[in-house]
This record gives sequence, structure tokens and C-alpha cells, in this order.
Amino acid sequence: MSHADDHEGTRRDFLYYATAGTGAVATAAAVWPLVDQMNPSADVQALSSIRVDVADVAPGTQLTVKWLGKPVFIRRRTPEEIEEARAVDLADLPDGDARNENIDEGSPATDENRSMDETGEWLVQMGVCTHLGCVPLGDAGDFGGWFCPCHGSHYDTSGRIRKGPAPENLPVPVAEFVDETTIKLG
Ligand code: FES
Repeated sequence: MSHADDHEGTRRDFLYYATAGTGAVATAAAVWPLVDQMNPSADVQALSSIRVDVADVAPGTQLTVKWLGKPVFIRRRTPEEIEEARAVDLADLPDGDARNENIDEGSPATDENRSMDETGEWLVQMGVCTHLGCVPLGDAGDFGGWFCPCHGSHYDTSGRIRKGPAPENLPVPVAEFVDETTIKLG
């Protein structure tokens, strides 16, 4: 299901849902779909901020949207995923930086510093491997988070790199809830 939301009155936002679990996520990773062509006259500026309806995202699934030409993973995590992410010893993390544009640069990579809300239910991050830019697969890898099949990078349920050649955690872009079911990127 898709939903368009026009918050500036000049264009249509677009998004692509991949909510059906591992299969859909894997497909989305292998073949990044062209979502919707904008009005040809829309300039890059018009894309700098989009609103995403997350009302239909079930726990344990993720929505992948295209933003500024790149995939963004919006995951609604299960209590188990959150617990696992929060139990990790920071000393075990190859990259100790939260990589979250919404907080101070250099903040430690706790799960609390990477998730959107206090409960940790929502995690928003760029779906671009920090090694050479492939799109990682969801619900995969040795740490139950994401796995990049290009050269074998494993990310945990907080999107932090745990094993493999990727040097950094998946970056968290500027994002906020503007109402209960809408996340604004940018
Ligand atoms: S691009 Fe992801 S591991 Fe190399």
C-alpha cells in the first residue's frame, strides 16, 4: 500500500513499502525499485524533505523509502530486537560513534542514541553499506539486523557494524515524528 502526502502543496511525496518481511526486504535490496517519477520540473530542493506515513508498518518489519536518491530503512522493532540492541557492550562495537545527525557529533553508539523514540521502537537509518555502498538485506546476518552480501558486513539490530569490512555504523539521517504516524526525513 502506498500513500502520498503533499505537505508543501507543490509536489507529491513518494514512498515504497516493503513490509512483508524478509522476502520483500531481500527483493528490495536486490533490485532497488524506481518508486515514482516526480513532476519533471521539480528540482532537487523539493526532495530535501519528505514525510512518510508509517501507520501500516507492523513490528518486526521495515519500510524502505527512497530519499535524496538513496534508500532509507524505517524499521519498527520488536521488543526482542530492542532488548538485544540495548544489551550490547559498547566495547564490542567496531565503531563507537552513534552516527546520528539528530544528536551531537561523536555521541557514543548506544542504541538509545540511534533510535528515534525513547522506547526504541523506531529506527531510521540510511540503507547504504558504509563499506562501498551496497544496500544491506534486512533480518539477516550474524547479529539479527542487516547483512551486506557484497563483501560480508554484518550489522546488529541497531544498525551498528559488528563484523566485516564496513568501517562505520549505518548513518541515522535527520528525522522526526511530526505526528503519531508520520516521520519527516530531512
Ligand atoms: S559494500 Fe557492503 S560489505 Fe562491501
